[in-house]
Amino acid sequence: MSGLLKFVACGSVDDGKSTLIGHMLYDAKLIYADQERSLKLDSKVGSAGGKIDYSLLLDGLMAEREQGITIDVAYRYFSTEKRSFIVADAPGHEEYTRNMAVGASFANLAVILVDVTQGILPQTRRHVKICSLMGIRHFVFAVNKMDLVDYAYEAYERVEKAVKKLAIDMDIAEFTAIPVSATEGDNITAGSNRMPWYQGAALLPYLETVDIDPAPETDGFVLPVQRVSRPDATFRGFQGEIAAGAIAVGQEVTILPGGEKALVSGILSTDREVAQAKAGEAVTLRLSREVDVSRGSVLAAEAAPEVTTMLAADILWMDEERLSAGRQFWCKIGAKTVPATVLRLKYRLEVQTGEKIAAAYLNKNGIGRVELALAERCVIMPFDKLKALGAFILIDRVSYHTAACGMIRHSLRRSDNLTWQQTDITREVRAADLGQQPKTLWFTGLSGAGKSTLANALEKALRSRGKHTMLLDGDNIRLGLNRNLGFTEEDRVENIRRIAEVAKLMNDAGLIVLTAFISPFRADRQNAREIIGGKDFIEIYVKTDLATCEARDVKGLYQKARQGVIPNFTGISSPYEAPDNPDITLDTVGKSPEEAVAELLTALDKLEAAQRG
Ligand code: ADX
Repeated sequence: MSGLLKFVACGSVDDGKSTLIGHMLYDAKLIYADQERSLKLDSKVGSAGGKIDYSLLLDGLMAEREQGITIDVAYRYFSTEKRSFIVADAPGHEEYTRNMAVGASFANLAVILVDVTQGILPQTRRHVKICSLMGIRHFVFAVNKMDLVDYAYEAYERVEKAVKKLAIDMDIAEFTAIPVSATEGDNITAGSNRMPWYQGAALLPYLETVDIDPAPETDGFVLPVQRVSRPDATFRGFQGEIAAGAIAVGQEVTILPGGEKALVSGILSTDREVAQAKAGEAVTLRLSREVDVSRGSVLAAEAAPEVTTMLAADILWMDEERLSAGRQFWCKIGAKTVPATVLRLKYRLEVQTGEKIAAAYLNKNGIGRVELALAERCVIMPFDKLKALGAFILIDRVSYHTAACGMIRHSLRRSDNLTWQQTDITREVRAADLGQQPKTLWFTGLSGAGKSTLANALEKALRSRGKHTMLLDGDNIRLGLNRNLGFTEEDRVENIRRIAEVAKLMNDAGLIVLTAFISPFRADRQNAREIIGGKDFIEIYVKTDLATCEARDVKGLYQKARQGVIPNFTGISSPYEAPDNPDITLDTVGKSPEEAVAELLTALDKLEAAQRG
């Protein structure tokens, strides 16, 4: 054991966290080392010009700072004779999840407070889950308020058992429990004679000696380039903090994502020429030849960061507005920021039970697995292998708020070996042949709203105007292309995605496509809009209320749904999310199909005129 220990202290409001930290500092007569001295203890710090760069402490979510978002996490710096510490003191309320995540992102160990009179609370599980998501492997459960239970072993034992179960549930290998009283000072800095039944170390001695083995990181050398330094025409250096491994002058490095190779011709560390450097050091590297390196490039040797455009990741959603698949963000991985689309939400994690639940959305503070498509090839590594290239944040493209932090689990290779082939006969050529502007008229509405009937009638009207069309209808597609799909949210997402892709292909062929699908989820329609292309996508909301649809009940399905025979029936046992801002809204109540089609044609003409004008 040695070196700096960075830990995060997590507890709910009345767990006594502040008292515990305060007591630890006071009892041990710890000198609050001034920040500067503590920081010097951190070998990572000591950047350009010998000046201390405090932001280096927050390697996990540095971008938050760059964006000037205040994070309510107090960092305290202190040392004992044996070790130096930085503790992140994060408020534990659910609404402070963001702070906890930030605190946890920088720590190697978590002290989780548990009130012995309360036991493990839902909050405790949340804290542990977030810490473990953020890569923490070591947990200390400080079972507090032992004074309130007369230091009784039985009371502690109950909680200890629950802790063990929690550790198993959450797959935590390294943990220990310590009975303490923060107010009375038992087992905080020294053993307590009021709990002779406890043989283990008190909290501070434990923290002083706990061995935080280096993360199971990659052996090879990885340097994410933060900055290209060009003070004059003769010097070109690549700056950053070595994320893993070591490098020596003369060694060969590969520059990713491009894959070019070059030899290291010089290493500057804190303005001094050195022969070698290792993980944690901030350096400037020079290379033997001109290569294409920019911010966000990664220099690597004997390590295998992957280059990819698609990945699977766990995210912690922190935005007020919920996440729905199909949305676009800025994604910041290492020193690189690129546009990214959440392709799909694979599941939401139910923190209390560990269940993975199919979901279309992730609410604030929700945790889930997503698939992400990056607009450019990026250099990544799984979070477990290397935090520096495995952690990312998603930034809202409008508000610039950090919407999520994420942990890369693996790349998705499927698209890596594919490139888009340009064909000579283009969409424009095909459209010109047919003498029309291809588009997709996307009908959405409840079952029985009249989508199929209207789409069918509109198609006839368009054909009589000489248009070339194709109609894709819910039931028909589900009997063929999509016959492997049902009506769970996940299946509906995929149903709509495939239809959008088919509609797009048909648009490419020059056709005007009409689609009649319930498409109940806003996110999926948005996704369809993005696949098809905003200007060619016309969303038509067939607004027939549930009561009317149910009264019509053309297929007798509502009755069955009410009887519980059909699960997940839209409007009954599965939601329908009406469009916020459809291109056309059609109220069918009291209208004949002819009247409705006439109204649609007028609306379409208007839209077209507006687009032209
Ligand atoms: S969508 O929700 O995925 O867009 P889609 O339009 O393809 O649905 O299919 C809807 C049709 O499937 C309905 O018109 C109805 O005939 C039939 N159906 C069968 N089960 C369900 C269900 N649980 N919910 C809605 N429609 C269902």
